[in-house]
Amino acid sequence: MDAVAVRPGPPLSGAIKISGATKNSGLKQLAAALLAPGVTVVRNLPPVADLEVMIAVLRAVGAEVEWAGPEELHIDTSARLIPEAPYDLVSRMRASINVLGPLLARCGEARVALPGGDNIGSRKLDMHFRGLHAMGAELEVSHGFVEARCNKLKGALIVLDFPSVGATENLVTAAVLAKGETVIENAAREPEIRDLTAFLNRMGAHILGSGTSTIRIEGVEGLVPCETEIMGDRIEAGTFLMACGIAGGEIELEGVRLEHLEMVVMKLGEMGMRVSPTPDGIWASAPERLTAVDIATLPYPGFATDFMPMAIAMLAVSEGTAIVTENVFDNRFSFVDELVRMGADVRTEGRYAVVRGVSRLSGAPVRALDVRAGAALALAGLKAEGSTVVHEWHHVERAYPDFVGALATLGADIHRV
Ligand code: UD1
Repeated sequence: MDAVAVRPGPPLSGAIKISGATKNSGLKQLAAALLAPGVTVVRNLPPVADLEVMIAVLRAVGAEVEWAGPEELHIDTSARLIPEAPYDLVSRMRASINVLGPLLARCGEARVALPGGDNIGSRKLDMHFRGLHAMGAELEVSHGFVEARCNKLKGALIVLDFPSVGATENLVTAAVLAKGETVIENAAREPEIRDLTAFLNRMGAHILGSGTSTIRIEGVEGLVPCETEIMGDRIEAGTFLMACGIAGGEIELEGVRLEHLEMVVMKLGEMGMRVSPTPDGIWASAPERLTAVDIATLPYPGFATDFMPMAIAMLAVSEGTAIVTENVFDNRFSFVDELVRMGADVRTEGRYAVVRGVSRLSGAPVRALDVRAGAALALAGLKAEGSTVVHEWHHVERAYPDFVGALATLGADIHRV
């Protein structure tokens, strides 16, 4: 069952509900729940593969975790925590590193395995470590683990070299219990950061400026657990907008905010789609074939790197030639070879890809190399003659709770094989 077959079908039509952003927002809030002794309730948290790993990490450090409904999790952190995240879990999912800040802040020490690189680049952690060091933590990397220690973290001015999402999250969740004020300059501005800090503020933290490049955190003595509802998944929404761009048609997405997708919506508009807000989501329509535009990925509010593989799939069947520049990760074009096997005309050089649109691809067996690459190949299958079978589909299931069901609801010819 680890593959999905896609065939071209009629233009997409219909409405779907967008899932809660478990991978990019929910996991971070689960890690943050470690900060407040007691029971945190997390809602709108659909299960995806990465969630299983985070639940295992929370249990490994001593939290009790239980499902209270299909998308509602209760995390009880009343017991004394064991601040160590083991390698077999961290190596399966990079976001496990998000427990470092909360464990250090609550326990005064933490030992977390290093995740290593993955299929999209080398993915360093230097900014996480430098920021924690600035707050007074002693850090040592040895035997594949980072060990951090401090009596009490203290507020600091931290200037990030790059607006890293993970570093911003780790540093904010450490600073909430530090003594004094921490200022993070060049902080990431992603909507998921705002989702996290809104949750922390409801727990009693004092965070200002979230969503801007300067975040100010006044440390507090303690936090109290509360309830949180995870935001709608803007990456999932963008994926289905691009599916519509490839297959044509008219769709409605519920439970997501258009303002989280402004840059994508602008590009899709330039390519010939019409996209507008509805009271609870987004409406979009696409002609039979789009026109190519150049795209460069950047941190939010720029064009998210997570959309880049889907954007290349879309450009591969658009009219004209486009240059795609990847500015966030250093090795995110590997999947292009799979797309080329489907007849796409794409050449990559360093951080650039030149995509010459063809009118139709040809279905082929292909391999998902990572979560977004797999999604992109399935979208390409919507405009590829015959059948496209995307193998290693488990990568896609790390973030999309029901990719196949959602696209099938919109009328796509897609099923598991
Ligand atoms: C998160 C998202 C991922 C998204 C990315 C966009 C989750 C689970 N993942 O990943 O889907 O594509 O943000 O930015 O939310 N870097 C360093 N040193 C550091 C930290 C990062 O050099 O200490 C570099 C990375 O190697 C990468 C870039 O900064 O090239 C961006 O990484 P970062 O924003 O931290 O990504 P993640 O938080 O890992």
